[in-house]
Amino acid sequence: MMNGFQNIPFNWLEKIINLAAERIVLVNRQGIILYINTAYCDFIGTTVDWAIGRHIEDVIENTRMHIVAETGRAELAAVQSINGSEMIANRFPLIIDGELVGALGTVMFSNPEEWQKYQRKIQSLVDELAYYKTRFEKELKSKYTFDDLIGSSTDFIAAKKLAERVAGSQSSVLLLGESGTGKELFAHAIHSGSPRASFPFVPINCASIPDHLLESELFGYEEGAFTGAKKGGKKGQFQNANLGTIFLDEIGDMPLSMQSKLLRVLQEKEVQPIGSQQSIPIDVRVIAATHRNLEKMVQEGKFRQDLYYRLNVIKIDIPPLHKRKADIPIISLHLLEKLAKKFYREELSLSPEVIQRLQSHMWPGNIRELENVLERAINVLDGKTIELFHLPLYLQDVAEDPKDTQFEGQTTILLSPLKDTVAHAEKSAIRRALAVAKGNKQEAAKLLQISKTSFYDKCKLYNL
Ligand SMILES: Nc1ncnc2c1ncn2[C@@H]1O[C@H](COP(=O)(O)OP(=O)(O)O)[C@@H](O)[C@H]1O
Ligand SMILES: [Mg+2]
Repeated sequence: MMNGFQNIPFNWLEKIINLAAERIVLVNRQGIILYINTAYCDFIGTTVDWAIGRHIEDVIENTRMHIVAETGRAELAAVQSINGSEMIANRFPLIIDGELVGALGTVMFSNPEEWQKYQRKIQSLVDELAYYKTRFEKELKSKYTFDDLIGSSTDFIAAKKLAERVAGSQSSVLLLGESGTGKELFAHAIHSGSPRASFPFVPINCASIPDHLLESELFGYEEGAFTGAKKGGKKGQFQNANLGTIFLDEIGDMPLSMQSKLLRVLQEKEVQPIGSQQSIPIDVRVIAATHRNLEKMVQEGKFRQDLYYRLNVIKIDIPPLHKRKADIPIISLHLLEKLAKKFYREELSLSPEVIQRLQSHMWPGNIRELENVLERAINVLDGKTIELFHLPLYLQDVAEDPKDTQFEGQTTILLSPLKDTVAHAEKSAIRRALAVAKGNKQEAAKLLQISKTSFYDKCKLYNL
């Protein structure tokens, strides 16, 4: 049977083993040395001739090779003291055809210096890890303050003033507003402006955690509380937020059963981890947020009324972006500055047409959508000024032919067969993509996120 060794001259083997493993020793089940290489012998101050055939304990100090040859259990990275220095050894049981026949030992580091050299390498990794850990903990504290809340429209200023005024209080806060209006930013700012600022800020997205995990996420569990529970149990986020603030985002998506449990925690100011008999007192301020209409949900029986009252002590309505259009230029500039830093660009600006266009859009996705639009524009931008054609197609001028102008501020829309409208839209999309890509078809196809072939097909179809 071929085993790969057939072609290797026997007298090469020693050399090969020496090269592969610096120091190596092999014993049988009785602990008698069958093989030891020169490197190992040099290390312990003996010779191969003398060592072979002897019991391992007579040759190597503090060895455990004979034990591994007995038990068949490997010992990896074990510290062993030889000649007064600590070295690191690996001991493997040698199993041939299912039978334990001995043990193989190697020395990973022969002296403290070698080990230290290695350790220094590891140390830099450990330092790096520590750095990220502190950064992560800082993130847990909170990232934004009231200065980050940009805007000067009346409704917005009112919301911001109210938030500033209540930041110092212990009461629960309920933030209401469409998605992307800045609810999370408000929560951060309230925490930063409170006496709890130096304690954790723990955000939980109730909509993104599966119902059956939410309870253990919030309240933690005891060891053995359920199958798959981690050894030692797990702390819940309420405990992690102790002395600080917990931000319950998308509270409208919290299942009713959890709502009762949450209510109890808010009333009793203590949590009971799953599977535990004991309650743990907690001191946490709650800020909740949702884009849903909680009042309506209460009427429909989908949200507990008592919890609603409990959370609704201070309610802050954050206006949608289309109701604060005057703020759009200043917010855009602020976002642009932020994005410029992120992409290592400088002094980016918006053309007047772009500002006008941004102000006329309805922004169903609010500031988050605006941020995405600007980020995308920066990605296709060569110069420093964002022009209309850098905007996504749905924001670009649709007024290519007079029919289209009717779409804006319309009361009557001229209707043509759908396939014509689609073809028209496709054609102008392709034309714009080509303009942005400076005629490069492959690039243009990428911008439109279609394959090159279908791009070429469409060009042919529309004579482009
Ligand atoms: N007033 C504001 N000024 C500047 N940026 C804002 C403002 N409000 C929100 N943003 C930004 O818009 C994005 C969405 O905000 P976020 O707080 O996550 O919204 P929500 O939680 O309401 O969905 C974030 O990137 C945030 O930094
Ligand atoms: Mg949010």
